Amino acid sequence: MRSLIDIKELSTQEIDELIAVAKDIISDPAKYSEKCKGKKLATLFYEASTRTRLSFEAAMYELGGNVLGFSSADNSSASKGESVADTVRVCSGYADIIAMRHPKEGAPLVASMHSLVPIINAGDGGHNHPTQTLTDLLTINREKGRFENLVVGLCGDLKFGRTVHSLIGAMARYNNVKFVLISPDELKVPSYIKQELDKDGVEYVETRSLEDAIPELDILYMTRVQRERFFNEEDYLRLKDTYILNMSKLEKAKEDLSILHPLPRVNEISVEIDNDKRACYFEQALNGKYIRMALIMKLLGVE
Ligand code: CP
Repeated sequence: MRSLIDIKELSTQEIDELIAVAKDIISDPAKYSEKCKGKKLATLFYEASTRTRLSFEAAMYELGGNVLGFSSADNSSASKGESVADTVRVCSGYADIIAMRHPKEGAPLVASMHSLVPIINAGDGGHNHPTQTLTDLLTINREKGRFENLVVGLCGDLKFGRTVHSLIGAMARYNNVKFVLISPDELKVPSYIKQELDKDGVEYVETRSLEDAIPELDILYMTRVQRERFFNEEDYLRLKDTYILNMSKLEKAKEDLSILHPLPRVNEISVEIDNDKRACYFEQALNGKYIRMALIMKLLGVE
């Protein structure tokens, strides 16, 4: 039995295989409509979500399976003090696979130690969000046709943004990828991630200026400032609108730039960008359903 807690648990070959299956699902969804017939997915979400929870549920329905679960700690017995370990032990008797989101880093790892079925980390605090990264990789693959030889800009809250941490971990394994880390000083990428990039000889630069960085980018990954992870509201209010991507900032960008965002968006991408051919974020959200279908099948051992 295998869980997915951190994107680094997947080999490059496995990521390639998941992407190939997701693309096949996109081209022929009917072929997959009964692959998980009789199987159940439990979504145990202790923290708010729209895309991740609903795309997991849509993925299981489209595979012919069923879903059960809860969408916040308040409407589960966690509100009465039940531990993650006990909840998972019980729910793994009700479902064949579990997707869990939790505000505490490491909670899905703890869950995997007590579960009788595979656990998928659907986002744990500021740590990791591996299925978002698979979504991002499928989007980059469909947009660019490759992962190598790309300049990837990551902009916004690089400190608390778990999708950023996972994506750097995944993209760093490909040849000639350069990261441009665009953030205010207070929201820089954590040191442990930069140490890993240094150790692996991966090129990166840090800057505060989106305007200066944008001309050389192939991918621009915008992120929301993560209000829920701030210790005080004053700091959040001061930093929340540091970067707002609008048409005037795009003037110096490449014609084939791909703009990604894990969503939800607050102010960081102006809605005027939505109809620009470089905007990929709504397609990216849809890709999340297909790659989660591929992952559910893999972890359930479905051919
Ligand atoms: N991208 C993402 O994780 O979105 P949700 O918080 O809506 O699931």
